[in-house]
Amino acid sequence: MTVVAATGNAHKLREMREILKDFELLSAAEAGFSEEVEETGTTFLENALLKAHATAKATGMPAIADDSGLCVDALGGAPGVYSARYSKLFGPAGWTLGNRALLLKNLEGKTDRRAHFTCAIALVYPDGREITAEGRTYGVILTEERGENGFGYDPLFYSEELGCTFAEASEEAKNGVSHRGRALAALLEKL
Ligand code: IMP
Repeated sequence: MTVVAATGNAHKLREMREILKDFELLSAAEAGFSEEVEETGTTFLENALLKAHATAKATGMPAIADDSGLCVDALGGAPGVYSARYSKLFGPAGWTLGNRALLLKNLEGKTDRRAHFTCAIALVYPDGREITAEGRTYGVILTEERGENGFGYDPLFYSEELGCTFAEASEEAKNGVSHRGRALAALLEKL
């Protein structure tokens, strides 16, 4: 089955291709869809569904979309669905810091460093049928960055299962325990 992946993020596309090996995964650009779908939902699942529906409708092909983010216990689950835009919520002071430095600043003096990544995945067929799944991975936020791999909050996220940060892990090791890996595996099982 050929499926359009509604993401412009090369890391995510690679992770998806790695796990959904039996599918031919086209990027949205390859399928001729380059519109940015606004993430107006208040949950990861709502946003994944928004993106998958828009892409399936525009391309006439089944579309898969994910929405993911980091939820920090001591910050009441923030940045959550705003993970990609976190620093933008804090005006110019936030923009100059960037997401990771802002997270560290907001956690200064906090001893509870527990956090998890969540990923919601939606596969939507052109007739509107939906299959959804979710995955999580748990860890703690370090007080400084470690490692060069991955993207986003990876250098700050120490995975208890891996015994290192996601940015210190190989792509394969990260995929084995990651929120996205788990959500994709759960989706595959449903299929
Ligand atoms: P999305 O592209 O709307 O799903 O935004 C997800 C945001 O959450 C990204 O821009 C990252 O900041 C963060 N994020 C999601 N998954 C990961 C991950 O695997 N590692 C690091 N950061 C992640």
